[in-house]
Amino acid sequence: MSIAVVTIDGPSGAGKGTVARLLAHALGFHLLDSGALYRILGQAALSRDLSTTDVPALVALANQLTVTFPYTASRTDVSVDGEVIGSVLRNQAVAEAASQLAIYPPVRQALLDLQRRMRRSPGLVGDGRDLGTVVFPDAHAKIFLDADVEVRAMRRYQELIEAGQTVELSAILRDLEIRDIRDRTREVAPLVPAADALVIDSSEKTPAEVLAAVNEYCRTKGIGI
Ligand code: C5P
Repeated sequence: MSIAVVTIDGPSGAGKGTVARLLAHALGFHLLDSGALYRILGQAALSRDLSTTDVPALVALANQLTVTFPYTASRTDVSVDGEVIGSVLRNQAVAEAASQLAIYPPVRQALLDLQRRMRRSPGLVGDGRDLGTVVFPDAHAKIFLDADVEVRAMRRYQELIEAGQTVELSAILRDLEIRDIRDRTREVAPLVPAADALVIDSSEKTPAEVLAAVNEYCRTKGIGI
């Protein structure tokens, strides 16, 4: 049997990252935060004064990337070329740049191979937009985690404030709506639930409640005990 993969897709702020980490921790699986890959390119574009439309340069960058996601029950780190990069990936400018460059098929293709190589024993939990539809269509369990846009904006706001950033809720809401539309309507790998995904609305659920539902579902698919 192929190496187990659980995919958790959905829009920004639905709680995918937290649930993916907790699930990976419970199962002892590897973790893939695919949004961070797009953010690394977004951050590189911003810091090198590169345009998010410069596809050949972005592909070259993507092809050089060596990324791992060391994590504990309470935090996920991103390690690029063996060095942990801090909160720099979490700001709004980086998220916006990531979403802009994510529309280009050659960029997505370059990151596709990288993501598939992360499927290693004993298993992988990955979160993103297209993991169940494009990256791992044969995943053993697929979840689509959604939530009302106002709830998602508030969660992102609290996360950024806790990280010490100065942000406005209304600006976050607007940015989320713009990114949502772009992610849902792009031609390649748009954000849609896989036909065989379990859809969960986390608007009125705690992370523990979502995790319980996801765990239960995974067990029905033969993952976990
Ligand atoms: O999940 P996160 O907010 O970190 O993702 C940042 C951006 O990267 C998203 O808005 C989306 O455009 C892009 N992305 C993607 N496919 C993925 C993960 C993220 O296109 N699997």
